Parts: sequence; C-alpha cells; structure tokens
Amino acid sequence: MNTRKLNMQVGIIGAGNMGSMLAEYFAWLGCQVSITNSRGPATLAAYAFQKKGITAVTLEEVIREKQIIIIALPVKAVVKLPLHFLSGVEKNVMVIDTCNYFPTVRDPLIPDIENGLTESEWVSQQLGHPVIKAFNCMTALSFATRGLPENTTGRLCMPVAGDDNAHKDRLSEIINAFGFDTIDAGPLSNSWKLQPGAPAYCADTGKETITNLLQQSDYSMIKEYRHKMMQGAAAAIQQFGSLEAAVAQTGRPEKLTYLKTT
Ligand SMILES: NC(=O)c1ccc[n+]([C@@H]2O[C@H](COP(=O)([O-])OP(=O)(O)OC[C@H]3O[C@@H](n4cnc5c(N)ncnc54)[C@H](OP(=O)(O)O)[C@@H]3O)[C@@H](O)[C@H]2O)c1
Repeated sequence: MNTRKLNMQVGIIGAGNMGSMLAEYFAWLGCQVSITNSRGPATLAAYAFQKKGITAVTLEEVIREKQIIIIALPVKAVVKLPLHFLSGVEKNVMVIDTCNYFPTVRDPLIPDIENGLTESEWVSQQLGHPVIKAFNCMTALSFATRGLPENTTGRLCMPVAGDDNAHKDRLSEIINAFGFDTIDAGPLSNSWKLQPGAPAYCADTGKETITNLLQQSDYSMIKEYRHKMMQGAAAAIQQFGSLEAAVAQTGRPEKLTYLKTT
C-alpha cells in the first residue's frame, strides 16, 4: 500500500483520546475523516478545523457514505446509541470497534457479556453490523508515541480480531503504515483474548511476545481477568477521582511521533 495515499472516507464516533488520535492517523494517510461527539459539531470546531482533512459532523452524518467507521466510545455511550444504529450501513463497510468494557467502574453491567459473549460480539449486535476489534488493547499513549518503521527492533504489535479476513488484512496494512505490527487473533468469538485484563491487554510489546500472550490466554479465566482489571481501575479511580482522570495521567500526547518523522 502506498501509505500516504489511502483515499477513503472514514467516520469516527467519539472524539476523546482514541477517536481524536485515530482521526489524525487516518487524515495523515490521506483519508477524508469525519468525527462526532455527544455534544454536536460546534463543540469540536476548534479542534477539527485546525487539522487538515478532519471535519466535525453530526452523528447521522458520520456514518453516511463511509468506507470505514470507527467506534471510539466507552460502552456506557454505546448503550445510548440507537439500537442497530448501523443496520442500514452496507455490510462491506469496515466497522472497527475500539471499545473496552469497564463494568461498574465506568460502564453498566451488560448481562450478555457477563454471561460470556465477547465485548465486540455484543457491540456488533448492538450496532447491527459486523465489526473488527482493533486498537483496543494498546494504551493511547503508546499508540501516539511508539510507532516505528517496519522491521525496526522494539516495534509494538496490535492484535486484530474479526470474521472478515479481507477487512483484517486491509486493516493490518493500515496499522503497519501507522508504525505497528499486527497479529490476527482469529474470529470475533476469540476477541476475549484482547479484552481488559487478558494477558495481551495493553501489554504494549512486540509480535513474538503478543503471540505468546494470546496463546497463554485461558477462556476459563475470563471473569477473573475482568475482575482483576476492575479492581485496578477502582483503585485508580480512588486515587485520581475518575477513570477519565486516571487515564489522563498517562497524558494526551499532542504529537504522533512516528507520523511526525515520516
Ligand atoms: N484511552 C485509552 O488509552 C484507550 C486505549 C484503548 C481503547 N480505549 C477504549 O476506547 C474507547 C474510547 O476511549 P477514550 O479514552 O477515547 O474515551 P474518552 O476520551 O472518554 O472519549 C469518549 C468520546 O465519546 C463521545 N461520546 C459519548 N457519548 C457519545 C454519543 N452518544 N455519541 C457520540 N459520541 C459520544 C464523547 O463525546 P463528549 O465529550 O461530547 O461526551 C467523547 O468524545 C473506550 O471504550 C476505551 O475503553 C481507550
């Protein structure tokens, strides 16, 4: 892929840490990027118009005539989207789910997930459209600052899970252009291996180690993984006041290091 010539229409739902950063990455690739938040485009004007190729739009507009749609919301916001919000979107549109489920500490309890459905399968059912799970299991800080050219020692790896192999291949090329290796973690039903608390979650390490961590993941531990993660999140909330404030401690880097240098 000519990495600076990806001429695609990309819609991003959520303009926080992940959404705004992904907007910059995709705009850098040459895409026309639209982004939305919960408060309307006017609240994003200062941010959006200073970044070439990024346009703040409404929730209705952000999914219109797109080739890629990215869900960059906390699960508590996914439940507020209209049920089957993407059911009218053509099935060949790549929908990327970056979401993580933080029950009780940020998100409501979702019985289907508690009963074993993967978080992304639930998101897919809510939206009424297939999804690829990606970008969820690297910290925003590492994603912003630790991209490296291909074949460089120390390059980090992002796992990608989903049922559409063509979409996974395409997305892997895109992530490679962003400065990261990828590994195919299998179908969406396997995406529990990418969820909060699982061994590969935010391990922020290279392909070989991520491969081993994915292999070491144990489905019978899924509740324990989540429980431990929520204990850690609860402690961070106690220390910093909210999960958002705890995440903010890692910093919202303004510069995308790898992109800045290529
Ligand atoms: N931060 C990380 O390091 C990281 C890493 C990997 C994955 N993730 C996951 O990625 C997801 C997003 O995380 P984040 O850190 O980017 O969250 P965030 O900074 O809290 O941003 C959330 C965004 O969602 C928007 N939003 C809320 N409800 C909405 C609605 N109904 N319609 C449209 N937009 C809505 C918010 O808009 P308003 O401000 O207008 O409410 C805000 O722009 C989460 O599931 C998180 O767990 C985060």
